Amino acid sequence: MKRTEKNDMPNGHLHELFVDELKDALSAEKQLLTALKKMQQEATNEELKGAFADHHEQTQEHIHRLKQVFDHLGLAPRAKTCKAMQGLLEEAEEISFNFDGDPIKDAALIAAAQKVEHYEMATYGTLVTYANMMGHKQSEDLLQQTLDEEKETDRLLTDIAVNKANSVSAF
Ligand SMILES: [Fe+2]
Ligand SMILES: [Fe+2]
Repeated sequence: MKRTEKNDMPNGHLHELFVDELKDALSAEKQLLTALKKMQQEATNEELKGAFADHHEQTQEHIHRLKQVFDHLGLAPRAKTCKAMQGLLEEAEEISFNFDGDPIKDAALIAAAQKVEHYEMATYGTLVTYANMMGHKQSEDLLQQTLDEEKETDRLLTDIAVNKANSVSAF
């Protein structure tokens, strides 16, 4: 976007940061898409497998929404490697490996997945705020939908952890 256009929008000074965060989010979601498939395979509890499968579908939609936001800005959707997500997913793999064959493995997978969801919630919370401040109403709505789904996934994982995977009856 040209500097003149950038200065036309409210809080245009946030534009570059907004775009940078969008690129980071696109990378994070793409990495997670692959990881969720693995987590689904690694989980033993059927409800947890289902939750990972559902969130895999939602994650595809999150990628689609980010591409729509890039489109609204007149930009090509570009990802920039999200190192935080790389780290979180490395830890998820490690924990999954370390607890392999252990009845507590599902709980370990949930712990790793919730760290991921909280990271995404922080990312989308920021993106929603920036979109709002710059008056990108359509983008704000799209990003808010994704934020709501990340929060809902986090709640669902807590529910599975408390009622199923971590409870004594699971063993
Ligand atoms: Fe997501
Ligand atoms: Fe997510």
